[in-house]
Amino acid sequence: MAPLKVGIAGLGTVGAEVVRLIEEQGRLLSARSGRGIRVVAVTARSKVKKRGVNLRGIEWAKSPLALATDPNVDCFVELMGGSGDPAFSAIEAALKAGKSVVTANKALIARHGIRLAKAAEKHGGTLNFEAAVAGGIPIIKTLREGLAGTTVNRVYGILNGTCNYILSRMEQEGLTFAECLKDAQRLGYAEANPSFDVDGHDTAQKLAILASLAFGTKVSQSAIYVEGISSIKPEDLRAAEELGYRVKLLGVAVRTAKGIEQRVHPTMVPKSSSIAQVMGVTNAVTIDGEGIPPITLVGPGAGGAATAASVIADIADIARGVHTTPFGRPVEKLRETKKAPMERHEGGYYIRLMARDVAGTAAKIATHLAKEKISLESIVQRHPDGIDPTGAGKSSPMPIILITYATHEDAVRRALAAVQHDKIINGKPQVIRIEKN
Ligand code: HSE
Repeated sequence: MAPLKVGIAGLGTVGAEVVRLIEEQGRLLSARSGRGIRVVAVTARSKVKKRGVNLRGIEWAKSPLALATDPNVDCFVELMGGSGDPAFSAIEAALKAGKSVVTANKALIARHGIRLAKAAEKHGGTLNFEAAVAGGIPIIKTLREGLAGTTVNRVYGILNGTCNYILSRMEQEGLTFAECLKDAQRLGYAEANPSFDVDGHDTAQKLAILASLAFGTKVSQSAIYVEGISSIKPEDLRAAEELGYRVKLLGVAVRTAKGIEQRVHPTMVPKSSSIAQVMGVTNAVTIDGEGIPPITLVGPGAGGAATAASVIADIADIARGVHTTPFGRPVEKLRETKKAPMERHEGGYYIRLMARDVAGTAAKIATHLAKEKISLESIVQRHPDGIDPTGAGKSSPMPIILITYATHEDAVRRALAAVQHDKIINGKPQVIRIEKN
Protein backbone atom coordinates (compact mmCIF):
# COMPACT_ATOMS: atom_id res chain seq x y z
CA MET A 1 0.00 0.00 0.00
CA ALA A 2 1.26 3.53 -0.77
CA PRO A 3 2.48 5.41 2.31
CA LEU A 4 0.14 7.81 4.09
CA LYS A 5 1.18 11.33 3.07
CA VAL A 6 1.14 13.73 5.97
CA GLY A 7 1.16 17.55 5.96
CA ILE A 8 2.00 19.35 9.20
CA ALA A 9 1.01 22.94 9.99
CA GLY A 10 2.93 24.29 12.98
CA LEU A 11 6.53 23.36 13.77
CA GLY A 12 6.85 24.34 17.41
CA THR A 13 8.15 21.90 20.02
CA VAL A 14 5.45 19.33 19.23
CA GLY A 15 5.45 19.75 15.42
CA ALA A 16 9.22 19.44 15.15
CA GLU A 17 9.15 16.36 17.39
CA VAL A 18 6.45 14.74 15.23
CA VAL A 19 8.62 15.26 12.11
CA ARG A 20 11.64 13.85 13.92
CA LEU A 21 9.84 10.78 15.30
CA ILE A 22 8.19 9.88 11.98
CA GLU A 23 11.62 10.07 10.35
CA GLU A 24 13.33 8.12 13.13
CA GLN A 25 10.68 5.47 13.75
CA GLY A 26 9.52 5.02 10.16
CA ARG A 27 10.09 1.28 10.13
CA LEU A 28 8.44 0.64 13.47
CA LEU A 29 5.47 2.79 12.52
CA SER A 30 4.94 1.07 9.22
CA ALA A 31 5.18 -2.34 10.91
CA ARG A 32 2.59 -1.28 13.46
CA SER A 33 0.17 0.39 11.08
CA GLY A 34 0.68 -1.87 8.07
CA ARG A 35 1.55 1.13 5.95
CA GLY A 36 4.36 3.64 5.66
CA ILE A 37 3.91 7.17 6.98
CA ARG A 38 5.71 10.04 5.27
CA VAL A 39 5.77 13.75 5.99
CA VAL A 40 5.47 15.32 2.52
CA ALA A 41 4.78 18.97 3.34
CA VAL A 42 4.94 21.39 6.25
CA THR A 43 4.26 25.01 7.01
CA ALA A 44 4.99 27.33 9.93
CA ARG A 45 5.30 31.04 10.66
CA SER A 46 9.06 31.15 9.99
CA LYS A 47 10.79 29.22 7.26
CA VAL A 48 14.28 30.04 8.46
CA LYS A 49 14.01 29.23 12.17
CA LYS A 50 16.38 26.48 13.38
CA ARG A 51 14.33 23.55 14.64
CA GLY A 52 16.89 20.77 14.86
CA VAL A 53 14.99 18.55 12.40
CA ASN A 54 15.77 17.57 8.89
CA LEU A 55 13.23 19.12 6.50
CA ARG A 56 15.14 18.19 3.34
CA GLY A 57 12.86 16.70 0.69
CA ILE A 58 9.76 18.06 2.46
CA GLU A 59 7.75 20.65 0.58
CA TRP A 60 7.13 24.03 2.28
CA ALA A 61 3.48 25.06 1.80
CA LYS A 62 2.74 28.75 1.52
CA SER A 63 -0.06 28.72 4.12
CA PRO A 64 -1.94 26.32 6.42
CA LEU A 65 -4.93 26.51 4.09
CA ALA A 66 -2.80 25.67 1.04
CA LEU A 67 -1.36 22.70 2.95
CA ALA A 68 -4.81 21.56 4.11
CA THR A 69 -6.10 21.43 0.53
CA ASP A 70 -2.91 20.15 -1.14
CA PRO A 71 -3.97 17.13 -3.25
CA ASN A 72 -0.67 15.47 -2.38
CA VAL A 73 -1.60 15.37 1.35
CA ASP A 74 -3.83 12.56 2.74
CA CYS A 75 -3.67 13.56 6.39
CA PHE A 76 -3.55 17.14 7.63
CA VAL A 77 -1.94 17.62 11.05
CA GLU A 78 -2.73 20.91 12.79
CA LEU A 79 -0.29 21.91 15.55
CA MET A 80 -0.61 25.69 15.45
CA GLY A 81 -3.12 26.12 18.28
CA GLY A 82 -5.74 28.83 18.79
CA SER A 83 -9.52 28.44 18.82
CA GLY A 84 -10.03 30.40 15.60
CA ASP A 85 -8.22 30.96 12.32
CA PRO A 86 -5.98 29.94 10.69
CA ALA A 87 -6.43 26.57 12.46
CA PHE A 88 -10.22 26.41 12.16
CA SER A 89 -10.48 27.25 8.44
CA ALA A 90 -7.58 24.99 7.55
CA ILE A 91 -9.07 21.99 9.39
CA GLU A 92 -12.52 22.58 7.96
CA ALA A 93 -11.07 22.87 4.44
CA ALA A 94 -9.07 19.65 4.87
CA LEU A 95 -12.17 17.78 6.07
CA LYS A 96 -14.29 19.18 3.25
CA ALA A 97 -11.64 17.95 0.83
CA GLY A 98 -12.21 14.46 2.27
CA LYS A 99 -8.90 14.33 4.15
CA SER A 100 -8.33 13.05 7.65
CA VAL A 101 -7.20 15.47 10.30
CA VAL A 102 -5.15 15.18 13.48
CA THR A 103 -4.99 18.08 15.90
CA ALA A 104 -3.66 18.76 19.40
CA ASN A 105 -5.81 21.87 19.68
CA LYS A 106 -8.04 21.69 22.79
CA ALA A 107 -9.33 25.26 22.41
CA LEU A 108 -10.52 24.58 18.89
CA ILE A 109 -12.12 21.20 19.68
CA ALA A 110 -13.82 22.64 22.78
CA ARG A 111 -15.23 25.49 20.70
CA HIS A 112 -15.86 24.03 17.24
CA GLY A 113 -15.58 20.27 17.85
CA ILE A 114 -19.17 19.51 16.87
CA ARG A 115 -19.08 21.53 13.66
CA LEU A 116 -15.80 19.89 12.65
CA ALA A 117 -17.06 16.42 13.59
CA LYS A 118 -20.07 17.01 11.32
CA ALA A 119 -17.75 17.96 8.46
CA ALA A 120 -15.65 14.83 9.06
CA GLU A 121 -18.74 12.62 9.01
CA LYS A 122 -20.19 14.26 5.92
CA HIS A 123 -17.04 13.97 3.85
CA GLY A 124 -15.88 10.59 5.12
CA GLY A 125 -12.71 11.77 6.89
CA THR A 126 -11.50 11.19 10.41
CA LEU A 127 -10.88 13.85 13.07
CA ASN A 128 -8.50 12.70 15.80
CA PHE A 129 -7.47 14.80 18.79
CA GLU A 130 -5.77 12.53 21.34
CA ALA A 131 -3.10 15.13 22.18
CA ALA A 132 -5.69 17.83 22.94
CA VAL A 133 -6.39 16.47 26.44
CA ALA A 134 -3.73 15.44 28.95
CA GLY A 135 -0.94 15.40 26.31
CA GLY A 136 0.64 11.96 26.49
CA ILE A 137 -2.19 10.09 28.29
CA PRO A 138 -4.35 8.13 25.84
CA ILE A 139 -7.57 9.29 27.47
CA ILE A 140 -9.55 10.09 24.31
CA LYS A 141 -9.09 6.60 22.93
CA THR A 142 -9.83 5.10 26.35
CA LEU A 143 -13.17 6.89 26.63
CA ARG A 144 -14.12 6.65 22.97
CA GLU A 145 -13.09 3.08 22.24
CA GLY A 146 -11.73 1.27 25.29
CA LEU A 147 -14.82 2.02 27.37
CA ALA A 148 -17.40 1.78 24.59
CA GLY A 149 -19.13 -0.93 26.64
CA THR A 150 -19.14 1.00 29.91
CA THR A 151 -21.63 3.52 31.27
CA VAL A 152 -19.54 6.32 32.71
CA ASN A 153 -20.92 7.98 35.83
CA ARG A 154 -18.06 10.33 36.58
CA VAL A 155 -14.81 11.41 34.98
CA TYR A 156 -12.44 13.68 36.82
CA GLY A 157 -8.82 14.58 36.75
CA ILE A 158 -5.78 16.76 37.08
CA LEU A 159 -5.70 18.23 33.61
CA ASN A 160 -3.34 21.15 34.09
CA GLY A 161 0.29 20.47 34.97
CA THR A 162 1.03 24.06 35.91
CA CYS A 163 -1.63 24.11 38.64
CA ASN A 164 -0.59 20.73 39.98
CA TYR A 165 3.04 21.84 40.04
CA ILE A 166 2.10 25.01 41.95
CA LEU A 167 -0.13 23.23 44.48
CA SER A 168 2.44 20.44 44.99
CA ARG A 169 5.25 22.89 45.75
CA MET A 170 3.06 25.06 47.95
CA GLU A 171 2.18 21.97 49.97
CA GLN A 172 5.64 20.42 50.12
CA GLU A 173 7.65 23.58 50.71
CA GLY A 174 5.12 25.90 52.36
CA LEU A 175 5.61 28.49 49.58
CA THR A 176 3.04 31.03 48.40
CA PHE A 177 1.05 30.81 45.19
CA ALA A 178 2.94 33.77 43.66
CA GLU A 179 6.37 32.24 44.36
CA CYS A 180 5.42 28.92 42.78
CA LEU A 181 3.79 30.55 39.74
CA LYS A 182 7.00 32.44 39.07
CA ASP A 183 8.95 29.15 39.08
CA ALA A 184 6.39 27.47 36.81
CA GLN A 185 6.83 30.30 34.33
CA ARG A 186 10.61 30.13 34.57
CA LEU A 187 10.51 26.39 33.88
CA GLY A 188 8.22 26.92 30.88
CA TYR A 189 5.20 25.03 32.26
CA ALA A 190 2.73 27.91 32.35
CA GLU A 191 0.98 29.14 29.18
CA ALA A 192 2.01 32.58 27.86
CA ASN A 193 -0.91 34.03 29.80
CA PRO A 194 -0.74 32.26 33.18
CA SER A 195 -4.32 33.17 33.99
CA PHE A 196 -5.44 30.63 31.37
CA ASP A 197 -3.82 27.92 33.51
CA VAL A 198 -4.32 29.15 37.06
CA ASP A 199 -7.87 30.44 36.62
CA GLY A 200 -8.96 27.02 35.40
CA HIS A 201 -9.81 27.76 31.75
CA ASP A 202 -7.27 25.30 30.30
CA THR A 203 -8.76 22.57 32.51
CA ALA A 204 -12.29 23.59 31.48
CA GLN A 205 -11.56 23.20 27.77
CA LYS A 206 -10.14 19.73 28.35
CA LEU A 207 -13.02 18.76 30.65
CA ALA A 208 -15.58 19.87 28.04
CA ILE A 209 -14.06 17.39 25.58
CA LEU A 210 -13.89 14.55 28.12
CA ALA A 211 -17.48 15.12 29.25
CA SER A 212 -18.74 14.89 25.69
CA LEU A 213 -16.96 11.59 25.15
CA ALA A 214 -18.01 10.21 28.54
CA PHE A 215 -21.69 11.14 28.41
CA GLY A 216 -22.49 11.38 24.70
CA THR A 217 -23.36 15.06 24.95
CA LYS A 218 -22.38 17.97 22.71
CA VAL A 219 -19.21 19.75 23.79
CA SER A 220 -20.28 22.77 25.80
CA GLN A 221 -17.73 24.92 27.55
CA SER A 222 -20.41 27.29 28.81
CA ALA A 223 -21.89 24.44 30.90
CA ILE A 224 -18.80 24.42 33.12
CA TYR A 225 -18.46 26.17 36.47
CA VAL A 226 -14.86 27.43 36.69
CA GLU A 227 -12.80 28.55 39.67
CA GLY A 228 -8.99 28.79 39.78
CA ILE A 229 -6.30 28.28 42.42
CA SER A 230 -4.99 31.79 43.02
CA SER A 231 -6.81 32.23 46.34
CA ILE A 232 -5.31 29.06 47.88
CA LYS A 233 -3.01 29.81 50.79
CA PRO A 234 -0.25 27.62 52.29
CA GLU A 235 -2.37 27.47 55.49
CA ASP A 236 -5.20 25.79 53.53
CA LEU A 237 -2.80 23.11 52.33
CA ARG A 238 -1.48 22.66 55.87
CA ALA A 239 -4.98 22.32 57.26
CA ALA A 240 -5.93 19.89 54.47
CA GLU A 241 -2.91 17.76 55.27
CA GLU A 242 -3.82 17.62 58.97
CA LEU A 243 -7.37 16.62 58.10
CA GLY A 244 -6.23 13.82 55.76
CA TYR A 245 -6.67 15.59 52.43
CA ARG A 246 -4.70 17.15 49.58
CA VAL A 247 -5.81 20.04 47.42
CA LYS A 248 -5.83 19.56 43.65
CA LEU A 249 -7.31 21.59 40.82
CA LEU A 250 -9.77 19.08 39.41
CA GLY A 251 -12.01 19.07 36.40
CA VAL A 252 -15.04 16.97 37.31
CA ALA A 253 -17.93 15.85 35.10
CA VAL A 254 -20.54 13.78 36.87
CA ARG A 255 -23.94 12.38 36.02
CA THR A 256 -26.55 13.60 38.54
CA ALA A 257 -30.35 13.40 38.72
CA LYS A 258 -30.44 17.04 37.59
CA GLY A 259 -28.18 16.60 34.56
CA ILE A 260 -24.45 16.56 33.94
CA GLU A 261 -22.54 18.60 36.50
CA GLN A 262 -19.29 19.97 35.07
CA ARG A 263 -16.98 21.93 37.31
CA VAL A 264 -13.38 23.04 37.65
CA HIS A 265 -12.21 24.17 41.09
CA PRO A 266 -9.64 23.52 43.79
CA THR A 267 -10.76 20.29 45.41
CA MET A 268 -9.88 18.43 48.59
CA VAL A 269 -9.29 14.77 47.82
CA PRO A 270 -8.57 12.08 50.43
CA LYS A 271 -4.82 11.65 50.81
CA SER A 272 -5.24 7.91 50.19
CA SER A 273 -6.90 8.35 46.77
CA SER A 274 -5.01 7.62 43.53
CA ILE A 275 -5.44 11.17 42.33
CA ALA A 276 -3.89 12.58 45.54
CA GLN A 277 -0.64 10.74 44.79
CA VAL A 278 -0.12 12.70 41.57
CA MET A 279 2.41 15.45 42.21
CA GLY A 280 4.21 18.02 40.08
CA VAL A 281 3.35 18.65 36.42
CA THR A 282 1.94 15.14 35.97
CA ASN A 283 -1.69 14.76 34.86
CA ALA A 284 -4.19 12.06 35.83
CA VAL A 285 -7.74 11.12 34.90
CA THR A 286 -10.06 8.82 36.84
CA ILE A 287 -13.11 7.23 35.25
CA ASP A 288 -15.92 5.81 37.38
CA GLY A 289 -17.80 3.30 35.26
CA GLU A 290 -21.01 1.51 36.18
CA GLY A 291 -20.23 -1.74 37.98
CA ILE A 292 -16.45 -1.48 37.75
CA PRO A 293 -13.83 -0.06 40.12
CA PRO A 294 -12.40 3.33 39.13
CA ILE A 295 -9.76 3.42 36.39
CA THR A 296 -6.99 6.00 36.78
CA LEU A 297 -4.57 6.93 34.03
CA VAL A 298 -1.50 8.90 35.12
CA GLY A 299 1.13 10.47 32.89
CA PRO A 300 2.61 13.51 31.21
CA GLY A 301 0.08 16.18 30.33
CA ALA A 302 2.38 18.24 28.15
CA GLY A 303 5.88 18.34 26.68
CA GLY A 304 7.11 17.77 23.13
CA ALA A 305 7.86 14.05 23.24
CA ALA A 306 4.69 12.98 25.11
CA THR A 307 2.35 15.15 23.04
CA ALA A 308 4.05 14.13 19.79
CA ALA A 309 3.58 10.46 20.72
CA SER A 310 -0.19 11.03 20.96
CA VAL A 311 -0.22 12.89 17.64
CA ILE A 312 1.64 10.02 16.00
CA ALA A 313 -0.73 7.43 17.49
CA ASP A 314 -3.60 9.34 15.86
CA ILE A 315 -1.75 9.40 12.51
CA ALA A 316 -1.02 5.66 12.85
CA ASP A 317 -4.75 4.99 13.33
CA ILE A 318 -5.47 6.82 10.10
CA ALA A 319 -2.71 4.89 8.33
CA ARG A 320 -4.18 1.56 9.43
CA GLY A 321 -7.65 2.64 8.33
CA VAL A 322 -9.29 2.92 11.75
CA HIS A 323 -12.32 5.09 11.31
CA THR A 324 -14.15 6.27 14.41
CA THR A 325 -16.62 9.11 14.83
CA PRO A 326 -14.74 11.95 16.58
CA PHE A 327 -16.93 11.89 19.71
CA GLY A 328 -17.57 8.15 19.75
CA ARG A 329 -20.99 8.34 18.11
CA PRO A 330 -22.51 10.21 15.17
CA VAL A 331 -23.09 13.90 15.85
CA GLU A 332 -26.85 13.52 15.43
CA LYS A 333 -26.80 11.03 18.32
CA LEU A 334 -25.03 13.46 20.67
CA ARG A 335 -27.46 15.02 23.13
CA GLU A 336 -27.58 18.66 24.21
CA THR A 337 -25.82 18.97 27.57
CA LYS A 338 -28.40 19.19 30.35
CA LYS A 339 -26.47 21.41 32.73
CA ALA A 340 -26.86 20.63 36.42
CA PRO A 341 -26.75 24.00 38.21
CA MET A 342 -23.77 24.53 40.50
CA GLU A 343 -26.09 25.89 43.23
CA ARG A 344 -27.50 22.37 43.61
CA HIS A 345 -24.07 20.75 43.85
CA GLU A 346 -24.08 18.37 46.78
CA GLY A 347 -20.93 17.50 48.71
CA GLY A 348 -18.76 18.26 51.69
CA TYR A 349 -17.01 21.60 52.13
CA TYR A 350 -13.87 22.93 53.73
CA ILE A 351 -14.45 26.46 54.95
CA ARG A 352 -11.76 28.71 56.45
CA LEU A 353 -12.91 31.90 58.11
CA MET A 354 -10.68 34.57 59.63
CA ALA A 355 -12.91 35.22 62.62
CA ARG A 356 -12.66 38.33 64.78
CA ASP A 357 -11.61 37.41 68.25
CA VAL A 358 -14.66 38.71 70.13
CA ALA A 359 -17.21 36.96 72.30
CA GLY A 360 -20.09 35.40 70.35
CA THR A 361 -18.34 35.05 66.98
CA ALA A 362 -18.27 31.25 66.98
CA ALA A 363 -21.87 31.12 68.19
CA LYS A 364 -23.03 33.41 65.39
CA ILE A 365 -21.23 31.34 62.75
CA ALA A 366 -22.75 28.15 64.16
CA THR A 367 -26.22 29.72 64.11
CA HIS A 368 -25.98 30.69 60.45
CA LEU A 369 -24.81 27.22 59.49
CA ALA A 370 -27.56 25.58 61.54
CA LYS A 371 -30.18 27.79 59.90
CA GLU A 372 -29.13 26.31 56.56
CA LYS A 373 -29.14 22.78 58.04
CA ILE A 374 -25.40 22.45 57.47
CA SER A 375 -23.96 19.79 59.71
CA LEU A 376 -20.30 19.90 60.73
CA GLU A 377 -17.93 16.96 60.61
CA SER A 378 -15.18 18.93 62.29
CA ILE A 379 -14.40 22.38 63.57
CA VAL A 380 -10.93 23.65 64.44
CA GLN A 381 -10.09 27.03 65.81
CA ARG A 382 -6.50 27.96 66.38
CA HIS A 383 -4.42 30.85 67.44
CA PRO A 384 -2.62 32.43 64.52
CA ASP A 385 1.13 31.85 64.62
CA GLY A 386 3.04 34.16 66.93
CA ILE A 387 0.15 35.37 69.05
CA ASP A 388 1.07 37.59 71.93
CA PRO A 389 0.57 35.50 75.15
CA THR A 390 -0.11 38.66 77.13
CA GLY A 391 -3.37 39.08 75.30
CA ALA A 392 -2.31 42.26 73.55
CA GLY A 393 -2.85 40.50 70.19
CA LYS A 394 -6.34 39.50 71.23
CA SER A 395 -8.08 41.39 68.46
CA SER A 396 -6.16 39.75 65.59
CA PRO A 397 -8.37 37.39 63.54
CA MET A 398 -8.41 33.67 64.31
CA PRO A 399 -8.63 31.04 61.59
CA ILE A 400 -11.67 28.82 62.09
CA ILE A 401 -11.68 25.74 59.89
CA LEU A 402 -14.92 23.91 59.30
CA ILE A 403 -15.49 20.63 57.46
CA THR A 404 -19.13 20.05 56.62
CA TYR A 405 -21.00 16.83 55.91
CA ALA A 406 -22.64 16.66 52.49
CA THR A 407 -24.76 19.73 51.91
CA HIS A 408 -25.83 21.94 49.02
CA GLU A 409 -23.76 24.71 47.45
CA ASP A 410 -26.56 27.26 47.76
CA ALA A 411 -26.94 26.53 51.49
CA VAL A 412 -23.20 27.16 51.99
CA ARG A 413 -23.34 30.37 49.97
CA ARG A 414 -26.35 31.68 51.95
CA ALA A 415 -24.79 30.81 55.31
CA LEU A 416 -21.49 32.48 54.43
CA ALA A 417 -23.21 35.56 53.05
CA ALA A 418 -25.00 35.88 56.40
CA VAL A 419 -21.70 35.45 58.29
CA GLN A 420 -20.12 38.17 56.17
CA HIS A 421 -23.11 40.39 56.70
CA ASP A 422 -22.59 40.14 60.48
CA LYS A 423 -19.06 41.60 60.06
CA ILE A 424 -17.57 38.96 62.36
CA ILE A 425 -14.89 37.82 59.91
CA ASN A 426 -12.04 39.50 58.08
CA GLY A 427 -11.86 39.16 54.29
CA LYS A 428 -13.72 36.56 52.29
CA PRO A 429 -14.34 33.00 53.47
CA GLN A 430 -12.15 30.39 51.78
CA VAL A 431 -14.28 27.55 50.42
CA ILE A 432 -12.87 24.34 48.98
CA ARG A 433 -15.17 21.56 47.83
CA ILE A 434 -14.43 18.00 48.92
CA GLU A 435 -14.54 15.16 46.39
CA LYS A 436 -14.79 11.66 47.86
CA ASN A 437 -13.62 8.65 45.90
N1 HSE B 1 -0.31 24.73 30.26
C1 HSE B 1 -0.79 23.39 30.14
C2 HSE B 1 -0.49 22.70 31.46
C3 HSE B 1 -0.13 22.68 29.00
O1 HSE B 1 0.13 23.31 32.34
O2 HSE B 1 -0.88 21.57 31.66
C4 HSE B 1 -0.99 21.66 28.36
O3 HSE B 1 -2.24 22.13 28.01
